[in-house]
Amino acid sequence: MAAPNPALLHDKQAFIADLVGQMTLAEKIGQLRLISIGPDMPREKIVQEIAAGRIGGTFNSVVHVDNRMMQDAAVKKSRMKIPMFFAYDVVHGHRTIFPIGLGLASSWDMPLVERSARVAAIEASADSLDMTFAPMVDISRDPRWGRTSEGFGEDPYLVSRIARAMVRGYQGPSPARRDSIMASVKHFALYGAVEGGRDYNIVDMSPMRMYQDYLPPYLAAIEAGAGGVMVALNSINGVPASANTWLMQDLLRKEWGFGGVAVSDHGAITELVRHGVARDGREAAKLAIKAGIDMSMADTLYLQELPGLVESGEVSMEEIDRSVRNVLGAKYDMGLFHDPYLRIGAAADDPADLYADSRMHRADAREVARRSMVLLENKNQTLPLRKTATVALVGPLADAPLDMMGSWSAAGKSQSSVTLRRGMAEAMRGKGRLLYAVGANVTDDPQIVEYLNFLNWDDKEVLQDPRPPADMIAEAVAMAKQADVVVAAVGESRGMSHESSSRTRLDIPASQRALLEALKATGKPLVLVLMNGRPLDLQWESANADAMLETWFSGSEGGHAIADVLFGDYNPSGKLPISFPRSIGQIPTYYNHPRVGRPFVEGKPGNYTSQYFEEKNGPLYPFGYGLSYTDFTVSAVSLSSARLERGGRIAARVTVTNTGRRKGETAVQLYIRDEAASVVRPVKELRGFQKVTLEPGESRTLQFDIGEDDLKFFNARLEHVAEPGEFEVQIGLDSQAVQSARFELL
Ligand code: NOJ
Repeated sequence: MAAPNPALLHDKQAFIADLVGQMTLAEKIGQLRLISIGPDMPREKIVQEIAAGRIGGTFNSVVHVDNRMMQDAAVKKSRMKIPMFFAYDVVHGHRTIFPIGLGLASSWDMPLVERSARVAAIEASADSLDMTFAPMVDISRDPRWGRTSEGFGEDPYLVSRIARAMVRGYQGPSPARRDSIMASVKHFALYGAVEGGRDYNIVDMSPMRMYQDYLPPYLAAIEAGAGGVMVALNSINGVPASANTWLMQDLLRKEWGFGGVAVSDHGAITELVRHGVARDGREAAKLAIKAGIDMSMADTLYLQELPGLVESGEVSMEEIDRSVRNVLGAKYDMGLFHDPYLRIGAAADDPADLYADSRMHRADAREVARRSMVLLENKNQTLPLRKTATVALVGPLADAPLDMMGSWSAAGKSQSSVTLRRGMAEAMRGKGRLLYAVGANVTDDPQIVEYLNFLNWDDKEVLQDPRPPADMIAEAVAMAKQADVVVAAVGESRGMSHESSSRTRLDIPASQRALLEALKATGKPLVLVLMNGRPLDLQWESANADAMLETWFSGSEGGHAIADVLFGDYNPSGKLPISFPRSIGQIPTYYNHPRVGRPFVEGKPGNYTSQYFEEKNGPLYPFGYGLSYTDFTVSAVSLSSARLERGGRIAARVTVTNTGRRKGETAVQLYIRDEAASVVRPVKELRGFQKVTLEPGESRTLQFDIGEDDLKFFNARLEHVAEPGEFEVQIGLDSQAVQSARFELL
C-alpha cells in the first residue's frame, strides 16, 4: 500500500525521496496544482479531484469544515495519502486587521511589526490555514502603482528589516508549529518597479540596481527562513518572471540557496502566452516548469500539459521530481506529514461563531495602529484636540468601516472595524460634542465609481450618497460653523489603492477637495485625517490645513487609534517609509537616488542643473519624516575614530533631547553617503535606526556601530564590496534633517 512512511519521518530528505519513489506521474503533477476555492464551487467535485490525487493545495478556503473535508479526501481517500495545505492572503492581519504595509512600515518598530504578523499567524492557523502569501516586500518608488499600499515603501534597508520581522512573526520559531503559518515572500521579483506604475507592466532594470535596491528584501525574507516564494506577474528585462530561469534557478536556488517552494501568481503560466513568449498553453507549461515554477496557481495547464510533455521527453522526470520535492518539502516543513490536522483540529473544537469578537486581538491592533500614524502638519499646536470641544467630523472616510481595513483584508469583516466616527464618539462621550456629516462622496467620477464597485464584489457596499454634492457640502459647512474645530477624514477608498488600481493622478478626488475648500472658507481650524494607500499630492492640503495626520488604512481598531492620537492619549511617532512628491510629474521622488553630474542646489535656482523648473524641487515630505507633539533635537555626530580599519568598527554617537513639554518617541535614523566609488552611488542610504522614548527635557546618547558591511554595495561586476575612501555619516530625525561627520575606510 502506497503511503508516507512514518518510520522515515525523522529524516526529511529520505522521507520525501521514498514518497516520490512511490508516486505515479499523474500523482506528481497533481501535487503541483494550487487551486482557488471560490464560494460557489461544488464541494463534491473538489473532493473527488483531491481523492484522485489531482490537487496539492488550495487557497481562499478559511473554514474548518471545508478544509477538514478536503484533508479527509487527501489523507483518507487518495492513494498516496499526501496531505493538502491551505493557503490565504494573510497580508496585514487575518481576522483582526492591522494597518496596511505602509502603515506598519511607518512605525519603524520591528518588534511591533513582528507582533502583527504573529497575531495574524495565531488567528490564521486557528482558522485551519497553513500558509500565507506574504510578506509582500516589493520596493515601490512610483505611487501611481496601487499596490504601493501593500508594501513597506521605497527603501531597501527598511523593507529588508521588515521582511525579516514579518517572516519571524508568521513562522514563529518554526513553520511546523500549530500556531504558525508558512510565509511565502512575494512578488519575486521587482514587481514594484512596473513601468509607469501601471500594474502588470514590464520591468526593465540594470542588474546593479536590482542587486542594490530591489532584491535585498526578498533575500532578507529568505534568510529569515521563508518557506515559500511567489513569483511575480511582470517580465524582467524581456523575460517574464514565471519563465525566468535566471531568476528562479541561478539567483533564487543557486546564489541564494533557497530550498522551499516556488508558486506562480494567479494564472501567471497562462499569461506567458499573452506575454508573447509561449505559442500556446503547452509551451507555457513547459517554460514555467523548466524555469522553476513548482506550483501553478489557479490554472490547469500543468495538469493538462505536463503528462504529454514528459511523454515526449520535452520535460524530464527529474524536472517534475524537483518541483514535487519542493512541494512535499514545504508540506513537511509545515508539519503536515506529522499531523495533517495540525491546524484543522477536531470537529468538536470548531469555533461556534467564526466572527466572534473574542477571537480578535483588538488591543494589539490598536497599539500597532496608533504607532503607524504620521503627523505631517501641526500648525499652532492645533493638535491634540480637547475632548470637551465641539468637533465637526466630516468626510466620506469618517464612517467607512470597509475602507478602514484597506485592501487585502483577509478574513476581516467590516462590521468589526471601528470607524473614526465611533472612535471619536467613544473618546468624547460625556465630555464634548461630536457633530457628523459625510460632506462628500470619495469621488463623483462615474468611471471611478464603476471600477470601485467592481472591486467591492464581496462586500456589496453602496459607495455613493445620492444627494447633490452641493447639498452635502452645505450640510457639512453648517455643522462646521457650530463647531470649535473641523476634522475631515479624506483620501482614497481602499479600492483606489489595490491590485490593478494604478492612478494617473495623486490628488484627493475633486468631490472631496470641493468639500475641503468650503470648510476652509468657514475659518474654523481644519484638521485633516488622511486615509490612503500611497503618497498623495498634498500641496493644497499642506498649505491650507492646520493639522494633517496620515493614518493610511489603519485596520480594525483604526477609529480608536486615530482618536488616541487626535486627543493626545498617544503622542504620534510614525515616520514616512516613502517620500511624498509635490506633484505627479516629480515621480520618482525616492530619497536615495543615485548622484548626478549637475545636482540641483537648494537656494540657487538656475539653469543646467537637474531639476524641474516650474516648481520647488525635492519632496513635499521626505522619507523618514514625521512630527510629534513634542520636539526633539539631535546633537552633532561624534565618531570614535576618523579611520575605519577593515574588519573593525566605528561608533557614531549623537545625543537626542526632548526639548518639548510632552513625553514622546522618535525614530533616529542613520544614513551613509559614499563620497567616491567606482560606480555612481546614491546621495545617501539608510543603514540603521533606533527608536527612543524621552521624557520632557530628557537627553539620551545613542550609539550606532558602523562596520565594513554597512559600506558595501554592488559594483559593476555585481561584487558586494566596500571600497576604500571617504564616507559621510548622517544622523537625524528624517532623511533631510541630519547632522554629519566623515571618516575614511582604509
Ligand atoms: C494575485 C496577487 O497578485 C497576489 O498577490 C495574491 O497573493 C494572489 N492573487 C492570490 O490571491
